[in-house]
Amino acid sequence: MPAGHVVQPPVGPRHVAIIMDGNGRWAQARGRPRLFGHHAGARRVREVVEACPDLGIKYLTIFAFSTENWKRTQAEVAGLMSLFRRYITRETRALAERGVRVRFIGDRVRLDAKLVALMDQLERATAENEGVQLTIALNYGSRDEVARATKRLAQDVAEGRLRPEDVDEETLPRYLDTRVLPDPDLVIRTSGEARISNFLLWQSAYAEYEFIDTLWPDFTAAELTRLCKSFGARDRRFGAVPA
Ligand code: IPE
Ligand code: IPE
Ligand code: MG
Repeated sequence: MPAGHVVQPPVGPRHVAIIMDGNGRWAQARGRPRLFGHHAGARRVREVVEACPDLGIKYLTIFAFSTENWKRTQAEVAGLMSLFRRYITRETRALAERGVRVRFIGDRVRLDAKLVALMDQLERATAENEGVQLTIALNYGSRDEVARATKRLAQDVAEGRLRPEDVDEETLPRYLDTRVLPDPDLVIRTSGEARISNFLLWQSAYAEYEFIDTLWPDFTAAELTRLCKSFGARDRRFGAVPA
């Protein structure tokens, strides 16, 4: 090796987004109700958040509840909403102490007022933190997000704040819920399903994807580490031919 040559370590993902799927099947495999799986899944989040700094992950975005998940039984939806309230109440202090900044994306209009108040409070309590930037997608759907964004964009045009001829690729992202976040580099889906289920469609145009069989309640920091390593070995071309 020539003198002075520095071997660059593989670059890991800066923004990882996770579709946390498989809680129901995990519970079913144990003969337990689906909510048992959701509780086990929620408990996995802390380990994953804590693993981020060492892996160089600055942004972690997790899919907790989709705009389509309202189609589930009333009991499961109510159980999930109560789990979200409990999760926020229980985790606020640990998140704040670890320097994690929490944001929520998704439409809050359909969520109950008590939950929204807790979400606002957690965002405010961690607003100054500069550690891991954790984004929780709750009542989030990409198509819903784009529809809401387009509505605001159209309003700006109608009221003369934006000229149609100035609309380009940079315009829409400024109206999305994710406007302050970089695009995800790596999107992971657990549970063996190889689909996106309406998650970050615009933002993930050039993300790398990992579909793994592990059910979310079994996901560990070790598995995240392995996925980040294999991400570092990938050749991201963004449409260009490497020189
Ligand atoms: C993911 O687990 C959590 C939510 C969608 C809220 P699921 O509840 O979808 O689990 P499976 O896919 O039925 O196993
Ligand atoms: C996607 O999982 C949503 C979340 C993980 C919150 P789903 O289980 O709802 O997705 P489908 O129904 O299998 O596409
Ligand atoms: Mg599922």
